[in-house]
Amino acid sequence: TRMEDSGVFNAGKGACLTIDKKIEMDASIMDGRDISAGCVGMVKGISNPIKLARQVMERTDHVMIVSDGVNKLAKLSNTHIGRISPNQQSLNKYYDIKRNMKKRWKKNNDLSFMALDHNNRHLGTVGAVAIDKEGNVASGVSTGGKWLKMSGRIGDSAVIGGGFYADNKSGAACATGNGEYIMRLCMCKYACDQMQSNNALLSSNRSIAVLTKQFGKNTGGIITVDRKGRFGVAYNTHTMPVASITSKDEKVKIAS
Ligand code: GLY
Repeated sequence: TRMEDSGVFNAGKGACLTIDKKIEMDASIMDGRDISAGCVGMVKGISNPIKLARQVMERTDHVMIVSDGVNKLAKLSNTHIGRISPNQQSLNKYYDIKRNMKKRWKKNNDLSFMALDHNNRHLGTVGAVAIDKEGNVASGVSTGGKWLKMSGRIGDSAVIGGGFYADNKSGAACATGNGEYIMRLCMCKYACDQMQSNNALLSSNRSIAVLTKQFGKNTGGIITVDRKGRFGVAYNTHTMPVASITSKDEKVKIAS
């Protein structure tokens, strides 16, 4: 929730805008003890979609709830949530991107406008993987999706095995980047399968190697934790800010 509230990332307050200048977010959470999961998609006007994903996992017998259903769940479950709407900074960015892309639409004459912009900019989904002293793993992710996406588009952050996965038998993984590519590769499930016999770093590297081979560079990144508590990070973008903390650390370690 802190990352959603910061406004710095493409999630919560900082979420990107759809082609209709609206915020529509996706978020999910998964518990490796029993592979239970909660996913929310097309979340509108709510500051912390991850809280609702948790409600889906813990308090319903569903796995995924989208659109207005998420707002209803917030009411039914009495979840404390703030309200958000597009701020001036996001609107400025929206107009900036749109100006830039109009020229491309004319040239390309198709509807794949969002993918055209994605390769170099605005990768900012947030996520976390964790392990406790009993070896229980978990993964959580939250995103605004892609700038200028069509309304109704749902990305990898709401899809189990795509943008996140957690299973005590292997480990936990969480992804950022181009959701369409990540989903098609079931990248986080692939990373967890890799962790059945490899450490977190090697599994992360292999996952990003597969992503790069299939779709090229500047397409995504992944964080993982394996059953032994080792963390892994890999990405094919220029940078990807990462932070880690253990029960022994006094301060969060930040790298990029
Ligand atoms: N990885 C975020 C998205 O594409 O929706």
